[in-house]
Parts: sequence; structure tokens; C-alpha cells
Amino acid sequence: MRDPAPQTIYLNDYKVSPFLINKTDLVFDLGEHSTRVTTTLTVERNPQSTEQDAVLVLHGSAELDLQSVQINGQLLGEGDYVQDSDSLTLNNMPVSGVITTEVLIKPQLNTTMMGLYRSRTLYCTQCEAEGFRDITYYLDRPDVMSEFTTRVIADKATYPVLLSNGNPIDQGDLEGGKHFVTWHDPFKKPAYLFALVAGTLACVEDSFTTMSGRDIKLQIFVEEKDLDKCAHAMLSLKNSMAWDEETYGREYDLDIFMIVAVDDFNMGAMENKGLNIFNTSAVLANPRTTTDASFQRVEAIVAHEYFHNWSGNRVTCRDWFQLSLKEGFTVYRDSQFSADMNSPTVKRIEDASYLRTHQFAEDGGPMSHPVQPDSYMEINNFYTLTVYEKGSEVVGMIRTLLGPDTFRKGSDLYFDRHDGQAVTIEEFVRAMEDASGRDLTQFRRWYKQSGTPVLKVRSQHDAEAQTLTLDFEQSCPATPGQNEKLPFVIPVKLGLVGEKGNDLVLNANGDTQIIYELNEAKQTLLIEGVGESAVPSLLRGLSAPVKLDYGYSTEQLAHLMANDSDGFNRWDASQTLCLGVLKQLTQDSLRDRPMALNSQVIDAYRALLTDESLDPAMVALMLQLPSEALLHEEAEIIHAAAIHDARSFVRTALAGSLADQFMALYQRHNTQPTYAPDAQQIGSRSLKNAALNYLMLVGDTGIKLAWQQFESADNMTDKAAALSALVNCPEASKYAEQALAEFEAEYRDEALVMNLWLQIQAINSQTGGLARVRDLMNHSAFTMSNPNKLRSLIGAFCNANLVNFHNPDGSGYAFLQEQVIALNNKNPQVAARLVTPLTRWKQFPEPNSGLMRKALQAIADEPGLVKDVLEIATKSL
Ligand code: TRP
Ligand code: ZN
Repeated sequence: MRDPAPQTIYLNDYKVSPFLINKTDLVFDLGEHSTRVTTTLTVERNPQSTEQDAVLVLHGSAELDLQSVQINGQLLGEGDYVQDSDSLTLNNMPVSGVITTEVLIKPQLNTTMMGLYRSRTLYCTQCEAEGFRDITYYLDRPDVMSEFTTRVIADKATYPVLLSNGNPIDQGDLEGGKHFVTWHDPFKKPAYLFALVAGTLACVEDSFTTMSGRDIKLQIFVEEKDLDKCAHAMLSLKNSMAWDEETYGREYDLDIFMIVAVDDFNMGAMENKGLNIFNTSAVLANPRTTTDASFQRVEAIVAHEYFHNWSGNRVTCRDWFQLSLKEGFTVYRDSQFSADMNSPTVKRIEDASYLRTHQFAEDGGPMSHPVQPDSYMEINNFYTLTVYEKGSEVVGMIRTLLGPDTFRKGSDLYFDRHDGQAVTIEEFVRAMEDASGRDLTQFRRWYKQSGTPVLKVRSQHDAEAQTLTLDFEQSCPATPGQNEKLPFVIPVKLGLVGEKGNDLVLNANGDTQIIYELNEAKQTLLIEGVGESAVPSLLRGLSAPVKLDYGYSTEQLAHLMANDSDGFNRWDASQTLCLGVLKQLTQDSLRDRPMALNSQVIDAYRALLTDESLDPAMVALMLQLPSEALLHEEAEIIHAAAIHDARSFVRTALAGSLADQFMALYQRHNTQPTYAPDAQQIGSRSLKNAALNYLMLVGDTGIKLAWQQFESADNMTDKAAALSALVNCPEASKYAEQALAEFEAEYRDEALVMNLWLQIQAINSQTGGLARVRDLMNHSAFTMSNPNKLRSLIGAFCNANLVNFHNPDGSGYAFLQEQVIALNNKNPQVAARLVTPLTRWKQFPEPNSGLMRKALQAIADEPGLVKDVLEIATKSL
């Protein structure tokens, strides 16, 4: 499947399509050996194009076996068209006409999970970004929007359920045991939103009455055995529909909304019009099989895909450089939703730490790119943390700058103005400008400049004049292709925490919190009437995606941790405090100096653990020390083993000093109410399990508790937490073995639970990690052909078992190289994503650095590399 010499696509080369497709009629005849796709397109020249004499070039792929082409009912001869591996050119296309093509494809052999493929017993599709061209010849670009009618024909006994976008308009039986259903989608859409599903599926049904009183039929299609795992997704869907009406004034448009769960899927889910296709991991949930984290992920992804109906489908992207137009905005919308459904502070902390750990790393690495990239080789490589997560942060900053009411006016204007259109990020920003009267010219740099800005702040208190001066200085490191950066607009939400822990007044209005707008490289804020030594609480809620450098002392951080009225910044102070300590201890470990934990840190944590007035979820978050992945991101040179040692040392020291407090917490939260995945219960369980993990470090008590919890848990959160605690405890190997065996015996038929079982073992940080992973690859619960399993075992090992993956013998790198090459042809998208951990080789010391580079080079040199993998490997070398 070697790609022809991969080309780079540039934003600046964008031209409107010379042709439009007003109507698209598809007939799929799903046969045992091949599927026949008959496509009828009503084509006309685009009056907006300057190329009025262009020939018609339809996108296609090497998978299409062309049977015939007609224009206006006339069969074309060989000289009338040119077919190559990725296009079909019609030389004599009249001004307008009907084009009919017939192709044969083999979905049963398609392992890429793009286009039409099979997941177990089902036929399903994934067309974003450019999968439709693997199904039929088409203008597969998002600015070509068409009205689709789709007839699906298949064997009735094997494929009783036949679905596509829109509403069913016809159905019936055919000879030979076949039947058909015809679907019509009245909304014009680009081909990437097309979907088809065929198979034996059970269905959970519900309904929703919209704000204008229309009744919508809601259906979730799953395998029969999973019918008891749909309630949470259904509830999440109804909540999303109500929330989008209330918060954005957006009502659902079709009469049916369907979700289908499939096992084999490259990402979380896909927003196909009226027919969302979901990875089973993003839709199925029940307390027996699903952790709290997965319940919340299901809620967030159901919401995300539903919200795309407006931010993505009704208003879509002109081209793929605009991807963040739909993804950044939709991530922002789903995070607002999750915040409203659960705890806003907890949600913001989770998002901020994810951003800092993963997006900041991407922004600092060789694949760094702006939220609106200006070139790509393979668009699938640009479904990134930058486009999604940083894109969401940028939308959030617009809301911070405009205020919630004006932001809502801006979003209303955007949706009204561009309904039914394929537009650019520029149009989104302009709607926000027009609604607010504010000039966002400089703000637009957030879309164009890559890299994570650094915000340096220094303060001076003049006791006599009672003033506090804050000196701000922003900078942004050079990133590939961008050496010089211009200043960003940075909204800094801030307050001052006084000596007694109270908020100080900042201005004549009596505000105790302001949003200070930084737009110069250097800027000074003078606050008057500050009669005491106050601690600045800066960038509350991470009000901009930047790195803060203030130079806090330990005392100041402990003060914020105990007193800041902003919950996010209390947590953030605990993180900054621990980061400083961990960086110091990492150096101690490297230089073989004795390690010791500052008593101020222990005192700060003691205060935290004994304050019963605190939200348990917040305490749990503060107990989770910065992850190894975050420590890697923060380090100038990444010494994986020393980082691991330092972190283990702090955990063990805290556990030793505060064992009684951890025990008290464990017991206080070890209640078993009827399981509900609500914020209060989730907080309580996460605190209990955080305490358990510390107790594992202080002798047998922890092991006994973990075993008891494993045996008695009535929900997967507690069960998996106990299993993981045992697996990671060197003194508990007997218990761990038994627990793993019992767990396997109980859940062997639950694919998603077995993925968790694989993952827990993949991230066991004790020595010998790679050998355990290689063993598990032979287990029947694993297969290379399922992306979830690859992520749970190989992805988890390489991304979250850092001390084992970065073994200085290079075995982890050689292993990853082997897996990437094995997957290269089978699933290019997943193969390319797997490469990521190798791309940061420049930040590692020898011998790691050289060994990582060697593995990357070996990947790049592999003959027949698909362009997905080629792009990442070559850009990283
Ligand atoms: N648009 C999907 C989302 O909601 C992303 C997606 C799903 C996707 N499957 C994909 C992107 C396959 C590329 C390839 O975020
Ligand atoms: Zn999305």
C-alpha cells in the first residue's frame, strides 16, 4: 500500500472547488466477497471558481476497483477518463451533468479502520478526514457539501439493521434473502460526515422533546450482550441536548439521533450526521465493569459528538487547516458541559494537567504546530492535542476576554451567519469581534504562532507607599519554522492573598479578582493600598495556556495551598511546591546525594489531610503528585530513572510521616453507598484510593486493605484501584498474582474490562516491564488488530511506564520500533500515533538519546513506510 511520493499540502494553496455536487445518491450492495458501490452525483461548475475550464478530478484510492463511469447516462470509454491510484479525471465534463460510477471494494480486507470496514460482525464506516475516497470516487473535501440519499442492501438474516444518515424513507425485501433500507439526509453535508452501519444490533430507545416541542427518537445500537451498558450514555445524551439548548440556544434538527457502538475504532467517536459511531470504550458503561474515569469519559464524548451537530456539522470547516474551528470549539463546549454536570474546579484541574503534561510537550517537541497549522503531509497526524486542547483553551480565552454574555452573542452570530456553510477560523473570530466590538487582531496570533509562551512575573512590595508592583514579561521559545514570536494577548486572572489568608482588594471598585490583559512583551501592574505582604495568586484557573514563572518560596506556596480562595490555584500551589521538591530530589538522586523531604512539605500535607472541611476530590487531586510524564515535560534533560526515584521517595516519605492520617481518611471514605458516578461519590472514592496507594508504601496494613477492597468491591473503580495497588507493590506479589487471576476469570468475556487488566499490568513500574508486556501480547485478551488493545498494552507501556520504557539498554525503543513497523501497513493512523514517545529524543541524556534516535531512524528507513508514519519520523529526526 505504498503511498506515491508524499506531498505537503499548504493552507496558502487553498482554492475553491471548481465543481460542486448538489446531490449524492449512493447504493451499497454489501456482498460476501465484495461490496458494490454505485454513486450518482449531480455535478455543476462552481460559479465562484476562477477555473471555469478545469477538468473534473474526483478523489479516489487504490482500493477502488472501477467498473464503469457514465456522464448523463452515456457510458464512458477508456479515452474519456484517466484513472490513477488516488484520482479519477473526467476530461470532457460538461457545465453540469449527472455522473454515475460503479466501484467494487473489499471492506472485509480493510484493516485501516478508514472508509468502509468490518468491526467483528458489523459493517461500519469512518470517513473523517479523507476516508470517503476509499469508498467511492468523490470530491472528498469539506467545502463540497451535498444532499445524500443512501440505499443499503444486504443479507437480511445476517444484517437485519441497516443504517445511514438522516431519516429512513424506504425499505423492503429483495430476492436471494436480501433486504434494503433507503435513507435521506435533508441537510447538506461534506462527505466526511457520511456514515453507514449494517449488522445484527440490539437497540435501546428513548426520546427527547426539544425546546420548540419536537419529539426526537434517540437510539443506541449495541451488541445484545451490552444492552445493560447503555443507560449512562443515554442519560448523557439527553443532558447534552438540554444543555446545548440552554447554554448555546442550539436545538437538534433531525427526527432521529442514533449512536452505534463498534469495537474496532481508531479514535473515541465520530459525529456523522444523525448517526454517531462510537468506540465501545466511549459509550458502554455500568458500575460492575466501568471505572469512574470511564463513566466521565463516556459522558464527555457523548456530549462532544452531540455538540458537533452545530459546531462541525451545521457549520463545518472549509478545509482541514480549519480543523480546530470545530474541534477546539467543541472540546471547549464539552468541557463546559462536564464542568456543569460535575465539579467545575475538578474538571478544570483535570484539563489543565492534561494540557500541561501532553500538549505542552507536543508544543515543545519536533511536531510543534500552530492551532491552525499551515502545512501537513497527512491530515490524520493533525488530530492533535494542539488542535483539540490548545484550540479549546483559545476559545476559552475569548470567552474570558469578552465575558460570558458577549461570548454567547458571538456564538449566536457565528451559528446564524454561517449555518449551512463551510467556513474558516477567521469567520469564528470575526463573529466574536462583530458581536463584541472588540478588535481581536493581536489575539489571532494564538492561532498562528506555535509554542507555549512563558510568563515571567516578579513583584515588589513598597510597604511605605503601600503599593505592590507586578512586572510581567512574556516570551515564547522558537519552534519548528518559527524563530521569532510576537507578543500574545494573555488574560491573567489574578488576586492577592493577604497575610491572614484573605483576598485583598485590588482596585477602587473593590474587586478582589481581576482579569489583567497583557499584550506587550513587558508590562507593569501597580496595585495600590496593599499594606501587608501579600502573595499573588496568578493565572487562576490557568486563564491562559502558558507556563508561569514567579519564583514562589516554599512558604508562599504553602500559604496559597492553605488559603487561596481559588480552588484551582490551591491545587496549583501544591503542584508547584511538589515540582520544586521533585526537581531538587531528582538532582540528588542523579548525584547520589542523600534524599530528604523538607518538613514544610510534610506539614503542608498534614494540614491538608486533617482539614475535614475540604472537598475530598480536591484533597485527592493534591495527593496525586505531579506525574512522571509531567516531570519529563518539565525537565530540561530527562533522567527517567532519577525522576522515578525522586517521586517514589516523596510518596514513601509522605506515607511514612502521615500514615495515621491516610488510614483515617481511608476509613472515613470507605463507605459503600449505592454506586452512582456523581461528583460527590467520585471524589470520595478517589480520595480513598489515593490514601490506599500511600498506605501500600508502609508495610502490611496497606496490602491487607487492598486485598479486602479487591475482594469486596461492588464497583469497578474500587476493584481496579485495589488491583493496581497490589500489582505495583513489590511486597504483594502473591496477592497480585491471585488478584490478576481472579479478575481474569471474572471478566474474561468483557473486552473493555480485560483492556483495563492489560493496562494495569502494562504500567506496573517494577523492573521487568517489557518482558511482562511481551508475555501479555500472547494472551488471548490481546490482539494487534484492535486499537483499544494496542493502546491499553503497547501505548500504555510506552507512554505511562516511563521508567521501564526508557530502560537505558534501549529495549523499550527497539520494542516500539518493532511494533510501529508491524502496524505500518495494517493501521497507518495508529502506527503513526505510537511513534510519539520516540520523538523527544533530543531531551534525553546518553545512552537513551542515541538509542531513541536510532529506533526512529530505523523506522524512517523502513521500505514501504506509509506517509502517516513517514511524516512523524522524518520531522522528528
Ligand atoms: N471528529 C472526531 C471527533 O469528534 C475525530 C475522529 C474520529 C477522527 N475518528 C477519526 C479523526 C478518525 C480522524 C480519523 O473528535
Ligand atoms: Zn471532535
